[in-house]
Parts: sequence; C-alpha cells; structure tokens
Amino acid sequence: MHSSIENLLNDQIKYEAQASMQYLAMASWADANGFSGVANFFYDQSDEERLHMIKLIKFVNERGGTVIIPSLEQPKDSFASLLDLFEKFLGSEIFVTEQINKIIFECLDKKDYNVHNFMQWYVTEQLEEEATARTLLDKLNIIGDDKSGYYLFDRDIETFAAEEENK
Ligand code: FEO
Repeated sequence: MHSSIENLLNDQIKYEAQASMQYLAMASWADANGFSGVANFFYDQSDEERLHMIKLIKFVNERGGTVIIPSLEQPKDSFASLLDLFEKFLGSEIFVTEQINKIIFECLDKKDYNVHNFMQWYVTEQLEEEATARTLLDKLNIIGDDKSGYYLFDRDIETFAAEEENK
C-alpha cells in the first residue's frame, strides 16, 4: 500500500475513534439531562463509530500495512441545548465525510482500486449518517425552544432514526 494512503487510513482510524468517544460524551450528557431517547441514540452511534474504526484496522492489517492505534483528544462534554448537540453531531459527520473524500481522491491519484473499492462502504455510510443528522436537526429547528416539543423529540428519536435508515 502506498504510504500516503496508509497514513490517511491511519488518520481515519483516529477520526472514527474520536467520533466514537465524542458520541459517548454526547450520550452521557443526554442521559444526565433526562433525555433518555437521545442518550440511547448516541450510545448506538458511538458503537457504530467504533465498528467503523475496527473495520479500518482489520483492513489495513489485511493489506500488510501498519496500524497506529491513536491517542485521542478529550471530547467535548457539555452542550448548551439539544440543538447545540445535534449541530455538533452534523458538524462531526460532515468532517468525517470530507476526510473520506480525501482518501478516495488519493486512491484515484495512486491508482489503488482495492482501497478505493473498500472505501465505498464508508461513502454510503456517510450519506446515511449525514441525512439522519440533517433530519433530526431540521426537527429540532422546527421545535425551537418548546419544552414539550423536546419531550416528544426525545420519545420519538429512535423512530425518526430508523425511518431515515430505511429510506
Ligand atoms: Fe464513521 Fe459517522 O463516521
């Protein structure tokens, strides 16, 4: 594997790990603030990001590359509101998509069609995750500052997220 691709894949391992820990901090914040539906949603998102990370680790090893298990930055653990929480969620997913696009670009540049093919799974996954984040943020923007709206959002979030995945 070309070293530039190996480096980008190792960066991606870090971004997925960082997202997993960030979503764990978000889940914990939601739990502590009485939003149990939102907490479950982020506990699940955290698990998903960990799986994304492990899939990359196994792939780099299979290809004979060297995996570097990264140290991570402290995740953000306090949020002004549910709206703030979901804005940061969308921001994080957009960032990850941009990084995946960089890997795709490098694969084409270096003509590594094997890694390019492997990364298509991440491209599809990012489309779904960004769409889910945008849908949930749209709902929160409609709810605005309405406390009873927050209650219903928290109760229904898992249904919203499941609907988005099945589209
Ligand atoms: Fe695996 Fe949502 O980035």
